[in-house]
Order: sequence, then structure tokens, then C-alpha cells
Amino acid sequence: MCGIIGYIGEGDVAEFLVKGLKRLEYRGYDSAGISLIAGGLISTVKCGGNISKLEKKLEKVEFKDAKLGIGHTRWATHGEPTDENAHPHTSCKDEIAIAHNGIIENYKTLKKMLMDKGHAFKSDTDSEVIAHLIEEFYDGDLESAVARAVKSIEGAYAIASIHKSEDRIVVACKSSPIVIGFGDGAMFIASDAAALVGNTNKVVYLSDGEIASVMCDRIHVRKLNGESVNKQVKRLDASLSDVEKGGFKHFMLKEIFEQPESLSNLIRGRVRGNSVKLTLNVNLNSVSRIIIIACGTSWHSAIIGKYIIENLIRVPVEVDYASEFKYRNPIIGRGDLVIAISQSGETADTIGAVRAAKQKGARVIGIVNVVGSTISREVDGGIYLRAGPEISVASTKAFTSQVLALLLFALYARQARGGVADNQLLNEITDLPNMVDRVLDNAKIVERIAEDLAQKRNFLYLGRGINYPVALEGALKLKEISYIHAEGYPAGEMKHGPIALIDEGFPVVFISPKDGLYDKVVSNMEEVKARKAIVIAVINEIDENVRQVADYIIEVPKTSPLVSPIINVIPLQLLAYYIADLKGVDVDRPRNLAKSVTVE
Ligand code: AGP
Repeated sequence: MCGIIGYIGEGDVAEFLVKGLKRLEYRGYDSAGISLIAGGLISTVKCGGNISKLEKKLEKVEFKDAKLGIGHTRWATHGEPTDENAHPHTSCKDEIAIAHNGIIENYKTLKKMLMDKGHAFKSDTDSEVIAHLIEEFYDGDLESAVARAVKSIEGAYAIASIHKSEDRIVVACKSSPIVIGFGDGAMFIASDAAALVGNTNKVVYLSDGEIASVMCDRIHVRKLNGESVNKQVKRLDASLSDVEKGGFKHFMLKEIFEQPESLSNLIRGRVRGNSVKLTLNVNLNSVSRIIIIACGTSWHSAIIGKYIIENLIRVPVEVDYASEFKYRNPIIGRGDLVIAISQSGETADTIGAVRAAKQKGARVIGIVNVVGSTISREVDGGIYLRAGPEISVASTKAFTSQVLALLLFALYARQARGGVADNQLLNEITDLPNMVDRVLDNAKIVERIAEDLAQKRNFLYLGRGINYPVALEGALKLKEISYIHAEGYPAGEMKHGPIALIDEGFPVVFISPKDGLYDKVVSNMEEVKARKAIVIAVINEIDENVRQVADYIIEVPKTSPLVSPIINVIPLQLLAYYIADLKGVDVDRPRNLAKSVTVE
């Protein structure tokens, strides 16, 4: 997701825009820019890198008698984070500037149509198409040109636009927020009220399919069909301390609760009816073995990927720690495909493994969140997670998106190799955001469990099959942010040693969905209960067996086994978060850790 800001009034336009972009930096920080109307011309200053780089560039620029402007801080979805790809984007004659948040699914078709009409593009983003579309439709009225432009767009958008000859900002949105603030002698727009706190407490939230002209003392809102809309002014109660995290106490909690949106973003445009649409630039028919390389949480999603891919396309999958792969002189054959999974795309171990694989002639694809990151540029193709910035060191929304991306990859590979579509899986994937919402509705139950267990010094997490890596991930989440020792194990492995650890009051978390292994997991619960452990069970529906043996129960929706890790991990993310918060540690920046480990 990206941050959009706009200002019209008597104040210092550039200063307001930069301040607003800083408030929105959590929404994206790989490039930024502003466009203002000064002296009847549009001046644009923008660059790759974060907002402090933009500020340096602005020190050398003076905007004489600027009365309005827009700004943008970017989370790249198409096109690397370069100066040219930064927003705002301008039309051919620099008479129009736009800032966009969202994904235009039909941008290639629109771009070709516009190029055939003589439009010259300066960037390789999908967003720039909007500036040229508005220019194409402009006949002296910016609002109607924007209305016509957005009707040609397929996908999500929040747009702010200005024209050098008009004293207004025109905004429109669909599945991406725009808020308008009423100031004293000025008006504001933003993609998040966070940017307006401290400047106004009177706002209007634009609804999907609406378009608004924002003047210095009033607004005019209508539907795309021209019908006027009378919007109710809402009171903005957020305090400054809230806004940086969108109202959440920590970025980690915000990112846990963003998972319905991040999963929707990943799916958007990639699941169509009963087929999956990816562009991997790799011939999957000739693949006879897959090796997945990753680190940490990404390595856990890689293990889940093994279960998914082997189940759906019956191709053997090996999973390697990236830090091990490079140094074990791996044997790479012609039929091998290497998949590198990395949220940041900058993990040195994974970069090293990618380079080692390519040196041995492997085809490599990436599953990466950060567009334009090193790994995304060095692989042959891949899948961007589109999860938006993941700022908290503990990875949460990226993990669930990685697992979903592996599901989409396996379904796509199955199609490519002539297999039949799995409609039940596809239906569940489409319904995932709703199911995740339902799990998040029970966050308070997990918070209460955390209150009872926050002082424990050791935890064991147990799961079987595809939920064994979920146990690993739950343990990693807890240990890396609360500093409590936690281990994940296959539940069947307990009797081969770890059960010696169990004594009275020892907390054991079981991931126990109602799948073919459920009865075995319940007997594992009975084994530890017999030794007076505390049993916490993540299950699909309460039955008498579990009620007898579990001390704490967290119910989650039942899904196909291949989808279940995405649902089952969420209570574990919440449990780790609430325990760490109760312990008063820096949840978003745990000791000794970095968000991206860029050293080997
Ligand atoms: C996960 O919570 C950790 N922050 C860490 O294990 C992380 O997953 C690992 O460093 C890999 O990072 P990447 O996905 O950016 O490559």
C-alpha cells in the first residue's frame, strides 16, 4: 500500500506535504515525491529512497506562491523504486499530476492504447497510465476527465490529481481509502487520517465509486454517474501518538490485523474463476525437482510449501536453509527449479544461495514482498506478495502471504502441467480474508491466555504434517519477541526425547485441526497432560476428547489441510504478541534482531 497526501490553502504547501508523508511512511517508504502548482505550472520533485532523501532534494527548490499540491510515498507493486517510478506521475505535457494507491490490473492494455495515441511514458509503473488517461479525456474540466479515466480502470485505486489551470484537487477511490480534512482556510486529503491528525478533527471519508473536487474552502462530492452526494462530516478523535500505527499499539499487532487485506492484495487479479494467473517466465513442464531456500520465518513457509507442492503436483521438493545451501556444494540438475523466499528480498544468506544456484545453472524464481529488492532483481521470475510494508521485525503478514503464494504457485504449476483445477481449494483461497477476519475476532480469547502464561519460562509447540512447520513458526514468534525459550516439534517426536522436559505447569501448544492426524495429536495431548503439563489447543471445533484434556482452547475455522497453516498460525502470532507486550519488551524492535539480516 502507499501513502497519498494533498493540500490546498494559504499555508506552506511543501511543508505540509512532507510532514504528511512522514506520517504515512509506514505505508510505504521505497520512494516519494510531491507535485505543486506554482506560477501556473506544475513542479514535481521526487526520488527513489525514503522521505529524508526527498527532503534533501527539496532543500534546493523554492516553490513561489504555491497554493496547492499532492504528495506520495510509495510501496512498489510494479516497477522498481527509482526516481522515474516514484509518484506523482505527470501527463505528457506536465499539465496534470497524479498520485495513486492500488493496483491497475488492466494497465498493460491501457498503456498500449495510449501509446498508440502518441503518449510517451516515463516510468514502468501501472500508475502512470492514470495521468495519461486523464490527459486523454481532459477537455477543460478535471473532475469529469478523472471520472472518465477511472471508469476505464480495472482494479483498486485511490487517486489524487491536479491540473495546472485549476484551483482544486480531484480525488476518487475504489477499494483503497481517501479521507478529506476540513482546515481553517485550507483543505487536506490523505490515504489515511493519520496524516491529518493535529491539522483538523473534521473529516469526510470518500466511499468507493465516489469522486470529489476539493477547493480551499469547500468540497463537492458526486458518484461516477454524476449524482451529487451529501457527505456527513465525521469527528477525528485520534491522537498524535496513535497515528503512526494506525491506532494499534505496535506495528506487529497492526500487521497481524492487516492479514485479511494483505491476503486479498495477493489474490487480486491472480485467481480468476477456476484458474490461477501468474507470470513466472519459467517452463514448469520440465521441472523434475524443486529446491526451496530461505531463512527464519520464510524457511517455515518453505517447509509448508514442500507439503503443498508435493501434494498438488507430485514433484519432489527439498527445503534448505539458505545459509547452508550455498556451502554444501549443492547438486543442481537440468530439471531443477530453485525457489527463494524472502520478505525483504535483501537477506544476505538468501542472496548468496540464489547466486550459488544460478552459478550452477538452476532456474530461480522468487517469492518476495519488497519490489525492486536485490533478490527480486536477480531471479528469473517470481511472485510479489503485495503485503505492503512489514515494519515489525517479527514477520506475520508476510508469512501468511508466503504460504498463500506457494499455494497459488502449486495450483498454477498443476494447471501448466495439464492437471485439473481444485475448485474447493480455490474457493477456500478466495474466502481466506473472511476466515482470517473470523480468527481475529477472537483475539481477546488469546489475550486472556497470554495473561495466564506470560511468566512461563519455556514453551513447547507441537503439530503434525503440514502443521508441524506452523509449530516451528509459533515457537519462533514467541522466542524472538518475548525472549522466552520455545521449541517447535513434530508432535510424534515427543516420545523420542522432548517429553523428558515436561513437568507440572509446562505449557504445550498444540496445533490440532480436524484432519487425518487429529486423533494422534489428541493422544499426544493426553501424554503431556498425564505429566501435568498445561495444554493450549488450536482446534476446529470443540469435542469431548479435547474438552477433557485441554486447559485452553482456541477455535478456528476448518479448512482443507493445505490452507490450514494460514488460519492456524494467527492465534500463535497473537499469543506471542500479547505475551511480549505483557512483558513490556520492545515488541517491534526485539533485542539483537534486525528486520532484514543483510550480513551473512
Ligand atoms: C521472522 O519473524 C524473523 N524476523 C526472521 O526469521 C526473518 O524471517 C528472516 O530473517 C528472513 O527474512 P526475509 O524473509 O526478509 O528473507
